[in-house]
Amino acid sequence: MESRDKKYGNTKSNKWILFGFIFTIGLVLVSFIAYLLYFESNKEPENMVNEQAISDNEIENGIHVRTGLKEGEGLMTVVTHCTACHSAQLIIQNRMNKERWNATIRWMQETQNLWPLGENQEVIVNYLVKNYPVYSKGRRENLQNIEWYELSE
Ligand code: HEC
Repeated sequence: MESRDKKYGNTKSNKWILFGFIFTIGLVLVSFIAYLLYFESNKEPENMVNEQAISDNEIENGIHVRTGLKEGEGLMTVVTHCTACHSAQLIIQNRMNKERWNATIRWMQETQNLWPLGENQEVIVNYLVKNYPVYSKGRRENLQNIEWYELSE
C-alpha cells in the first residue's frame, strides 16, 4: 500500500512538473515572439527615416541639396530645427540682422509652437547672419522696424 501511494504521488507531481515545464517554455516563446514583433514594428520605420535623412543630406557645389541652404558652420542645426515646418526658402528670402532673427524666432516660439532652441539658437542665428547677410538696401528698413519688437534681454 505504501509503495503504491508513493507511486501515485510521484506520477501526479511528475505531471505537474511536465505541465509547468511546457507552460514555462510556452510563456517564454510567446514573450519572445511578442518582443520580436514589437521591435520589428517599432524599428523599421525609424530606420527608413534615418537612412532617408542621411542620403538626403548631400551637399553639391556648396548647397545642401534637400533644402537649398548654403554649406556652412551650423548648417545641420538649421536644417534640423528650421525646416520641419516650412521650406528653407522662407528663411533664405528673409535677410535679417541678429536682433531681428532672435525676434523672429521668439515670435515663432510664442505663436507657432516652435520649440526652445537653447544653445542652438546662437548657432542658428550666426549661420543665418553669416550666410544670408542683410542686403544693403534692406538695412535701413530693418532699423526702422526695430521698435516693433520688444527685446527684454
Ligand atoms: C514649429 C514650426 C516652425 C519651426 C520649427 C520653425 N518655424 Fe519659422 N515659421 C513657422 C510658421 C507657422 C511661420 C509662418 C508661415 C507663414 O506665414 O506662412 C513661420 C515663419 C517664418 C519666417 C517668416 C517670418 C515673417 O516675418 O514672415 C521665417 C524667416 C522663419 N519662419 C524662419 C525660421 C527659422 C530660422 C527657424 C529655425 C530656428 C524656423 N523658422 C523654424 C513655423 C516654424
